[in-house]
Amino acid sequence: MTISVHRLHESLGAEIRGIDLSRPLDDTSFATIATAFLDHQVIVLRGQQLPPERHIALTRRFGNPEIHILEQFHLVGHHEILVLSNRKHADGTPVGLEDAGRYWHTDVSFWPEPSTASLLYSLEVPPEGGDTMFTNQYAAYDALPDELRRQLDGRRLLHGLNRVVAPKFTDEQLARVVPVSHPAFRTHPGTGRKAVFAGAFAMGIEGMTDAAARPILDALYAHCGEDRFRYVHRWRAGDLVMWDNRCVLHHATPFDPAYARHMHRTTVSGGRPI
Ligand code: OGA
Ligand code: MN
Repeated sequence: MTISVHRLHESLGAEIRGIDLSRPLDDTSFATIATAFLDHQVIVLRGQQLPPERHIALTRRFGNPEIHILEQFHLVGHHEILVLSNRKHADGTPVGLEDAGRYWHTDVSFWPEPSTASLLYSLEVPPEGGDTMFTNQYAAYDALPDELRRQLDGRRLLHGLNRVVAPKFTDEQLARVVPVSHPAFRTHPGTGRKAVFAGAFAMGIEGMTDAAARPILDALYAHCGEDRFRYVHRWRAGDLVMWDNRCVLHHATPFDPAYARHMHRTTVSGGRPI
């Protein structure tokens, strides 16, 4: 099969065709994915059969799988996989995390070493809605209004969680998340490019009062989610979407809960943002 890469949007995203993820990746396929990932930030492979073992093996090609703190939503027998689902067990308990973030965010930026990549695989999707939106944070950095750039240059943002953004965390899980600071503008270790590193977990600015920080964070949030930086992924069952948390924000969207949406997610452990 010939491998080809097709852009999905002028700002970010590409679909890779001609790779069958149900089989071990050969070096050419891996190199194509790794290059497209750095070039396009979000990559999509459609029509895939990806059993948990293959999903985890694919993740390992990019680094160590990160084990999510929400252990109640781990896939049984495969704790590397977080289940995203609105399905319920027979006793009414949820099968997975029903809502993985209907706000702009970058995965687990509330940890000192946030994930580099997330790999989300869809098993069942609603006929409409439940899209995932992605925005290019290199582009957001390049297009920053002068005032925001001046206000945030050299600053660190405080990332954390609260009940609003993390309704499914137990009290004990929430207590384990201690606010951590990351540079507002980080340099991507793979491309050398600067990106805004913010989103809804960024709740404060180091060395600033909340009252002074709030309007700046609100303006930054609005800027980073702008339409011009955005690719919206319309899911089909069998899609594998991999995004780069170091230079992309993403945002889940609502759907009719009468339909099932069921997905498997892995993430790759990262280092400290610089
Ligand atoms: C995630 C996430 C968005 C979605 O898996 O990290 O934010 O649309 N998912 O489910
Ligand atoms: Mn997410």
